[in-house]
Amino acid sequence: MKKLVLATNNQAKAIEIMALLSNCKLQLLSLQDFPGFKMPEEDCTTFTGNAIKKAVAVSNFTGLPAMADDSGLEVDFLGGRPGVHSARYAGIGSSDGENNALLLKELDGVPPAKRGACFKCVIAIVLPGSAAKTVEGICRGRIAEVAQGKGGFGYDPLFIYEEEGITFAQMTGTAKSKVSHRGIALRKACNLLKEIL
Ligand code: IMP
Repeated sequence: MKKLVLATNNQAKAIEIMALLSNCKLQLLSLQDFPGFKMPEEDCTTFTGNAIKKAVAVSNFTGLPAMADDSGLEVDFLGGRPGVHSARYAGIGSSDGENNALLLKELDGVPPAKRGACFKCVIAIVLPGSAAKTVEGICRGRIAEVAQGKGGFGYDPLFIYEEEGITFAQMTGTAKSKVSHRGIALRKACNLLKEIL
């Protein structure tokens, strides 16, 4: 069976990714299988740049095909912020709660019609000795005025998926994956892996 290393230290993401790639007939390895590896800094200005940087670093270190994602939330009213800074929106090492609190503060008084946002996810796949290939998933929604739901991670309690009228944190993992930026990108990645591996 072909091996693929998932280049993420985020356990919640790794679980979502492994579930979605389970029918891809691959032996999935995580960074826990490579204890000496140190993830490079995500200092690029685009999701694509960061995803490629991580996948290249992991493939070079392991000598194996690697897959990395970079994702985040772009809020229309904030001109696309927090974007690539989503994980550290309220400062380096900030918690999901702190990031969500800052987002609510920045959107204080902004009416629902102007609270549009999207989650974006770019996945990069790197085979040793080959150039990176990327796929993208986008999911549009709206930022809630109060946090709702207990599931998921990150901005999920504030991201209302319009079709259902509930936040990602109120959806099951399976329901979220069917419509989420990461789910869309992963299904594209799965098709790409079938072609290139
Ligand atoms: P990354 O690990 O550099 O891709 O950072 C992504 C950050 O964007 C996370 O730490 C979250 O704050 C946010 N994010 C990305 N995807 C999601 C999602 O599916 N739900 C909630 N927040 C997300």
